[in-house]
Amino acid sequence: MHFQWYPGHMTKARRQMQEDMKLIDLVIELVDARIPLSSRNPDIDQLGKQKARIILMNKADLASPQQTEQWSSYFKERGCFVVKLDARTKAGMKNINNVIMEACKEKMERDRRRGIKNRPVRAMVVGIPNVGKSTFINTFAGKACTKTGNKPGVTKGKQWIRLNKNVELLDTPGILWPKFDDQRVGLYLALIGSIKDEILNIDELSLELIQILRENYPGILTGRYEVLEEQEPAGILKEIAQNRNCIKKGNELDYSKAAALVIEEFRSGKLGKITLEFPEGQKKAEKNNA
Ligand code: G4P
Repeated sequence: MHFQWYPGHMTKARRQMQEDMKLIDLVIELVDARIPLSSRNPDIDQLGKQKARIILMNKADLASPQQTEQWSSYFKERGCFVVKLDARTKAGMKNINNVIMEACKEKMERDRRRGIKNRPVRAMVVGIPNVGKSTFINTFAGKACTKTGNKPGVTKGKQWIRLNKNVELLDTPGILWPKFDDQRVGLYLALIGSIKDEILNIDELSLELIQILRENYPGILTGRYEVLEEQEPAGILKEIAQNRNCIKKGNELDYSKAAALVIEEFRSGKLGKITLEFPEGQKKAEKNNA
């Protein structure tokens, strides 16, 4: 598979983020709960080194709750505050203000010791494209927010959203590019629909998905498509095409239609709550590299 690069945009976005980092106390990083590592760029660990950090595991409504729980522990063990989220709904937002306060406790304490009172915490949302940054800002800030406009001491043109008396949010999120070092990362991003246009081969992608599902979520394919899972992915795709009446002109099976169907049903959650990468595997890899 081949993925397109936009090095110019990436350099510009990175530079912008470095500038914005100077203005904030807290980095709110969104990852996709279905691929919590592949949907983040570890550069943020360096860029946001001196800052308080919260990881929002977004699209948790589409991910396996057990795996999300385990990933949550994984990030907490590495010093981050973590919140599971469906950014489209107001429900998950309640907790976030408390977590922000918790994450910035030290900073507020420092301010207090220096005699600085009531300076709001300034935060910035970052993440790869399509992870839900705008959705989150809209839901979190809601209608109640007031834009504070330009202020002395703040770079001209920066818009801050005043969430409450304690927190201000930069209204434009920082964009991170995923890191395609590993082929699996590209595959996972393509599967969740993050890099749609770059996909060369939807059939190949669906076979990879089928393989992941039969290995890690036995019964899901049988349940949805009445197929036998104890066979090669290509055989399973063929059965799906048969059972779902994916037929081309000339009465031939339409594998691409079946492939697109499986991928769409995965992305929209019709196949169930599915996480594609697992913290256990990652921990093992980290141990081996240590
Ligand atoms: P971005 O700013 O990071 O690029 O992402 P954006 O908010 O535009 O969200 C990308 C897509 O992800 C949107 O769908 C959005 O509705 C969806 N989304 C965001 N958060 C969640 C979540 O927690 N759960 C689920 N299931 N979906 C989420 P879209 O199809 O591109 O647009 P639309 O159908 O919402 O109009």
